[in-house]
Amino acid sequence: MARTLVVGNWKMHGSRQMVAESLAVLSAAAPDLAGVGVAVCPPFPYLQQAAALLAGGPVRLGAQNLAVEPSGAFTGEVSGPMLRDVGCHYVIVGHSERRALFGEDDRLVAQKFRAAHLAGLQPILCVGELLAQREAGDTERVIASQLDAVLALCGDQALADAVIAYEPVWAIGTGKVATPEQAQAVHRFIRQRVGRGDATPTILYGGSVKPDNAAGLFAQGDVDGGLIGGASLVPEQFLSICRAALS
Ligand code: PGA
Repeated sequence: MARTLVVGNWKMHGSRQMVAESLAVLSAAAPDLAGVGVAVCPPFPYLQQAAALLAGGPVRLGAQNLAVEPSGAFTGEVSGPMLRDVGCHYVIVGHSERRALFGEDDRLVAQKFRAAHLAGLQPILCVGELLAQREAGDTERVIASQLDAVLALCGDQALADAVIAYEPVWAIGTGKVATPEQAQAVHRFIRQRVGRGDATPTILYGGSVKPDNAAGLFAQGDVDGGLIGGASLVPEQFLSICRAALS
């Protein structure tokens, strides 16, 4: 069964003070959010601090990236087992910023997806099309090839109950959100392509989700929650989006 889940992707933002303040607000509100899974993904240096603050509570911790290898001479990399060791439950893989700015292709993303599983982490696989691809009518083809790369490496069942974030690249950080109908159409496509029998993925929408548009997106039958960037940096906004996922 798909879960309702809202995940904050802090990207390269934050400080020790922000972690302390944000997570205090979030933890205090968590009991009212029992029907929805909530997670935050701060930058690497703050994971351990965040893990200590969230310990024993319902809010889960995630990282934003991981290395393919579990350990070794890979200067500057951080591995899945390390993330698990410091208390991460989730890890984002294939975010469009990693794909566009750091050269991550479908195959590398699939290898990271596999590495996350091997480390006992739950990957959040990001997929999404560029504006030009949408305008050319290529959205489904692009999403399909991003999904298929993971199925090819990890097996046909690999995404059946995965967490997948549909993030149209043109909607990320732009304030230009997909309409609920646009999101629903792609989410339905993803569910049909990777679901197997009773197993169905949890499909999050990401891209300029804000308190005033979250409820409309979450009301769609195939939108199971959100991956939230900018609005996750403001605790009150993030909480208001989490509450929208409750109703
Ligand atoms: P945004 O980012 O909410 O700031 O558009 C979403 C994301 O990149 O995950």
